[in-house]
Amino acid sequence: MNTAEDTALIEREHNVIYQTYRRLPIVIDRAEGCRIYDTEGNSYLDMLSGIAVNALGHSHPRIIEAITVQAQKYLHVSNFFYQEPQVRLAELLCKQTGFAKVTFSNSGAEAWEAAMKLARKYGNACGKTGNIITFRGAFHGRTYGALSTMDKPLYKDGMGPFLPNTLVLDYNDSGALREAVDETTCAVGLEFIQGEGGISSVSAEFAQTLRELHERFGFALIADEVQAGTGRTGDFFGFEQSGVQPDIVTMAKGIGGGLPLGCLLANERFSTLWEKGQHGTTYGGNALACAAGIVVMEELQSGVMENARSTGEYLRSSLERIVADFPGDATEVRGRGLMLGLVLQGDATPLRDLLLAKRVISNVTATNVLRIIPPLILTRGEADEFIAALRGALTELTA
Ligand SMILES: Cc1ncc(COP(=O)(O)O)c(C=O)c1O
Repeated sequence: MNTAEDTALIEREHNVIYQTYRRLPIVIDRAEGCRIYDTEGNSYLDMLSGIAVNALGHSHPRIIEAITVQAQKYLHVSNFFYQEPQVRLAELLCKQTGFAKVTFSNSGAEAWEAAMKLARKYGNACGKTGNIITFRGAFHGRTYGALSTMDKPLYKDGMGPFLPNTLVLDYNDSGALREAVDETTCAVGLEFIQGEGGISSVSAEFAQTLRELHERFGFALIADEVQAGTGRTGDFFGFEQSGVQPDIVTMAKGIGGGLPLGCLLANERFSTLWEKGQHGTTYGGNALACAAGIVVMEELQSGVMENARSTGEYLRSSLERIVADFPGDATEVRGRGLMLGLVLQGDATPLRDLLLAKRVISNVTATNVLRIIPPLILTRGEADEFIAALRGALTELTA
């Protein structure tokens, strides 16, 4: 139920904002930890975390303190100047990941654009002017470069033409990849765990093929870690358990802890390709966003990433028991850490709505997958609360 003010706000929103988002019927008042509060004071358990953004939960005191201190110094001065928060965050990222260089963006799509540009710069210099190869089910963003590397008709319909020399193959299809790759291939880019694609992971066999082809043909290998990165899977990157080492990685979402921040990381081989002026953005590495990013990195290293792993394992076993107890509805649990998916027999939307009625916020991807991407600070108690609500909702669904 919305208040009269809520209803008026929703009407005003309809009047002036493009209706491109499927919003839940909730007007937010405030949020803290793993809880979101609506304007009527109702509390919701947040198992979505702003679409895998709020790694440290909402209103983390250290993030508030860091951005307050930074705001009192300066907000934005542009990349004409040297700025401590940018340098510090880049150092933390390089130290954590072993990559050589960082460039900052404001979003995941922009980081993906940067990756495509860097791969092309590399390819043009060494005769790899052929395809940038990507995979069905992936989501890389809403810019033209990103859309050109995705197959989702809804996101593209009526808005072509898209970039040439891009090829989208079936995910985990080693045969198709072997056939498509040659000496001219510019890049292969993928999410090692697809977020929007139903929390599907690369198979061990596909990872092996990728590693072999990468070594043989020397294309740029790009990992999109916008959703799976920043500790979400219990490892810093989602690709870490695949045995594949990408050249370029894109990050966003979690790294900003709620502020708009993205970045590209690249290895030594890709670290000197851009000359001054060849890449950049006005806000890239904004001081406020970087101040938050530093706190995210520090907290991940002091227990939050470990919590994503252990609470994730705990949640996964509870979800597996649910699959066993509701075989007519749920078929499989996917993912790792706190990037999990409960695969249902049919559309997951009714289940999401029943959960919402029980004041639990979750999300649907790939139609039949309930996506579970809570803040990485989720406690076991909160995981139990979610599981109890899920059991209740599934019982109602089957009644
Ligand atoms: C894997 C992945 N890449 C890229 C993006 C695009 O990020 P943004 O929405 O910040 O542009 C997303 C967003 O959901 C994503 O999940």
